[in-house]
Amino acid sequence: MRIRVCDDLAAAFVEEVTKSQPRTVALAGGSTPRRAYERLVEADLPWESMHFFFGDERAVGPDHERSNYRMASEALLSHVPAHAHRIRGEEPPEQAAELYEAELQDVLGVDGPLDLAVLGVGTDGHTASLFPGSPALESAKWVEAVWSESQGEHRITLTLRILNAARLKIVLASGADKADVIAGWVGGRAPELPIARVEGDVLLLLDEAAAAGLEK
Ligand code: 6PG
Repeated sequence: MRIRVCDDLAAAFVEEVTKSQPRTVALAGGSTPRRAYERLVEADLPWESMHFFFGDERAVGPDHERSNYRMASEALLSHVPAHAHRIRGEEPPEQAAELYEAELQDVLGVDGPLDLAVLGVGTDGHTASLFPGSPALESAKWVEAVWSESQGEHRITLTLRILNAARLKIVLASGADKADVIAGWVGGRAPELPIARVEGDVLLLLDEAAAAGLEK
């Protein structure tokens, strides 16, 4: 794992994505990435040949205020000529998961890895919608429908199988509330956490507040 503590998380994100020139990307939801996505609009990327997917989606339609698609579309996707592949959160979750796995395989091929997976991390160590103790963590599928007890909602999520196969994983973390979970993950004290099971080329981009618990 590579760690980069940044004064400007969005600028560092744009720099790293531009360096990697990905064609297939899975975006994280939540609040942290919004500013980074807004800044990515100005990046020098092969937009017309890019396919944007989602690491997860809440079981809501695209216009709902909790929709990850809505957030990413407002910040990035509606401003660039890339292909966007939305998880159909308004459909029954199991059906939405099956449809999305087929769409991913249609673009990536049966084993084709994503070039980039953008991930966030929750204070409980979840990433995408892979929550601690979830059976989805052991899934051999690419996409699963899950119930999030902590969030009180159904979600659709990419699994570790497809996330770990991605050539590059960029994890974004910001704010003092993430300092403990980041310290436990990076310090190897919480191997069971979903975020700690993300493997391969992992770049952790975080601000000073989220890095406060890291050993200097
Ligand atoms: C989601 C995300 C989720 C998010 C973390 C961190 O749908 O909420 O995909 O995994 O990355 O919960 O969220 P914040 O960036 O809002 O702290």
